Amino acid sequence: MTVYSVILSAGIGKRMKSSTPKVLHEVLGKPIVAYAVDALANCGKVLQTIVVISKRSGLIRQYLEERPEDKPANKPEDKLEGKPANRNLIFAYQEEPLGTADALRAGVEVLPERDFDCVVVMAGDTPLVKSSTLSELIERHAFLKSDLTLTTFIASNPNSYGRIKRGPESAVQCIIEDGDASAEEKKIFEVNSGLYVFGKKALALLREIGKNEKKGEYYLTDIVSLCNAKGLNVNTHVAPNEYEFMGINTRYDMLVAQKALQREIALKWMEEGVTMMDVESIIIHPGVSIGKDTVIYPNVQLEGNTRIGEGCKIYSNVRIVDTELEDRVIINDSTVIDKSKILSGSTIGPFARVRPGSEIGPKARIGNFVEIKNSTIGFNTKASHLTYIGDAILGRDINIGAGTITCNYDGKDKHKTVIKDGVFIGSGSQLVAPVTINGNAFVGAGSTITADVPEKALAISRTKQRNISGWVKPKENETKENETIKNKTGE
Ligand code: UD1
Ligand code: CA
Repeated sequence: MTVYSVILSAGIGKRMKSSTPKVLHEVLGKPIVAYAVDALANCGKVLQTIVVISKRSGLIRQYLEERPEDKPANKPEDKLEGKPANRNLIFAYQEEPLGTADALRAGVEVLPERDFDCVVVMAGDTPLVKSSTLSELIERHAFLKSDLTLTTFIASNPNSYGRIKRGPESAVQCIIEDGDASAEEKKIFEVNSGLYVFGKKALALLREIGKNEKKGEYYLTDIVSLCNAKGLNVNTHVAPNEYEFMGINTRYDMLVAQKALQREIALKWMEEGVTMMDVESIIIHPGVSIGKDTVIYPNVQLEGNTRIGEGCKIYSNVRIVDTELEDRVIINDSTVIDKSKILSGSTIGPFARVRPGSEIGPKARIGNFVEIKNSTIGFNTKASHLTYIGDAILGRDINIGAGTITCNYDGKDKHKTVIKDGVFIGSGSQLVAPVTINGNAFVGAGSTITADVPEKALAISRTKQRNISGWVKPKENETKENETIKNKTGE
């Protein structure tokens, strides 16, 4: 069976009140239109997808052609496994936003061949449709030898959707758009999802759709009565739940879709053996994976292509972006980790920040108010308090005292700090890069290190302490007070 699909996403999206095209708004970090693209690509039945966009929305094309999550820089090769097979998109342009029928016409014009069985038509603003639903719909269309199959659902709030008008033996007669519906018709709860399968005969009737005088647009929904008039075989597929087909027209719709997806993702990971202390406040992007026996506390955000191992604990107010956590890693409260790798058994936070390009562990300890940037921290190395480590390579079994700073930036260039195995850096030290502290060396607290330190040496660069006795003079009012006390007590 040869199946193509068309995603309609050339509309203005007025109701979003945004300068960004509606379908580029993100639900859980992924633009709305990308959900439709992926669902069609993953359903296993669609040969190629045509995306209809407006001339003004070049950004949509740009995004779909250069999806950041596909870039190997953020994504080691093995993560490409889940990449949908079909990203071979064709773009079509709708000159003016003259309605959904006009948009589909623009899409059909660029179909690469005329010899196909059917075309799946989907709105670019319905992000929750599953690929399994799409493949079932295509199968149903073929099984019923249908000319047009539309997916409908029973909406708890049907406002803004086209209503499905059924006649004798509940055959679908036509779709009435919200704006055209009478008070009686508005009470119909069965609505059009905007997801259809068109056979060739139904597609041929597209050009017969006339302009809706009220809105000045060509409504794709008029295809139903046209097909009926020609005696074509029209069928519906009534979806078992409503949120899968919800369309996003407003910011509120976006929130509803996000909450539904958030819940679905959380439930999926719970089924895989992950403990969630909350569902409402834990945000997990669709590209994230989590190992079993990991526990996630409230207010956690796991974003992008993050991979979490088994038996990890992620406490509250943590945000992890495009990062890999191996097994048994603990992320304490209020910590941010971006584009890094945390090796097994390490502990990070509370109140830590790990910036891109860092690799920490195994069994390392990064404590409170520590910032790590573009650095490697080896086995069992500890930086427990108030430290900045940037552009550094640290070996194993190192202790970094509180308040240590790598001075990696000279105002112009960044330089490297190398700290070899077993080194001890005393508190409050500055390591002025480029500099190397060799194995098992010891840096005295409060030192400013500007030259390499040899193996096992003690480096100390602070001035010798002097104590000047009696240096502090009593304050004037202190003297007076003492006098008063003396007088009162008769001393
Ligand atoms: C549409 C349906 C409605 C259905 C609802 C489901 C029509 C006339 N109405 O209404 O029956 O219940 O979807 O969510 O089809 N688009 C274009 N070019 C245009 C106009 C729209 O490409 O000129 C695209 C939009 O970008 C959008 C999709 O088509 O992705 C649907 O358009 P939208 O304006 O959101 O239609 P609804 O009013 O939601
Ligand atoms: Ca819509």
